[in-house]
Amino acid sequence: MATVYAVVNQKGGVGKTTTAVNLSAYLALFGERVLMVDTDPQGNATSGLGIRRSTIERSIYDVLVNGCSIHECVHSCAVQNLSVLPATLELAAAEVELMPRISRETVLRNAIMSDITDYDFVIIDAPPSLGLLTLNALCAANALILPIQTEYFALEGISHLVRTIEMVKQHINYELDVAMVILTMADTRTKLAQQVSEEVHRHFTERVSSTQVPRNIRLSEAPSHGLPIALYDPKSRGALAYKKLAQELLLDGKTRSGPRS
Ligand SMILES: Nc1ncnc2c1ncn2[C@@H]1O[C@H](COP(=O)(O)OP(=O)(O)OP(=O)(O)O)[C@@H](O)[C@H]1O
Ligand SMILES: [Mg+2]
Repeated sequence: MATVYAVVNQKGGVGKTTTAVNLSAYLALFGERVLMVDTDPQGNATSGLGIRRSTIERSIYDVLVNGCSIHECVHSCAVQNLSVLPATLELAAAEVELMPRISRETVLRNAIMSDITDYDFVIIDAPPSLGLLTLNALCAANALILPIQTEYFALEGISHLVRTIEMVKQHINYELDVAMVILTMADTRTKLAQQVSEEVHRHFTERVSSTQVPRNIRLSEAPSHGLPIALYDPKSRGALAYKKLAQELLLDGKTRSGPRS
């Protein structure tokens, strides 16, 4: 029975995809059966795991719009135990095509539920918006991972996201909560980083992980090689941070597993 996490923050470029890809890869390397679901038409998580557009016959678009099952659309990648449900630009049209449908916000949830015993963890990478694709991610998840970039205005838009989470919780997905807040691209020990960290802690208290992800060039290079940091440079500071976070997530996942309705 998989535990499903969505990596969300409607703010762009805060490290969602980097987090989704690298946590997925480490969990798989720990021996867990992992599915990484790309729900962003940019397809960065897909290409970051080395899946080339030209090789994708079926993608998440076919799951959301054409009623395909997940196992008909998954791809393997360089990491054993890690399956990828890829996204292509075609996915941008899904928001419009799903609009007139009944239960349009729970299509992904239902698809994952059908294949839930195939995996131990499902990690969903959400796009930088609060549209229907992110809503599908929120409805499908047991819990959320929130990357927050250590910069001015880090919490801008967070109240909107929190309101959306509450709405989903009230109406569709009662168990949803924030499992882990991750401070990303932290420039070590600057005053700004400390200020942002304090502000985020005031807001999310004990849900903020004590492991921060440092700004690390190796993390930004890895996707162009189609590899997670665990394979690209496992000794880098970025790799060590994501490995530690994946260990935390492994423990969190064990406390959440169980049947879902
Ligand atoms: N810790 C880090 N150190 C250095 N570069 C990073 C780090 N985390 C992410 N990056 C780089 O910053 C950019 C944005 O990261 P990423 O794509 O993970 O953010 P995102 O939130 O998924 O963006 P989007 O909102 O567009 O989907 C990428 O080029 C990525 O390689
Ligand atoms: Mg992204």
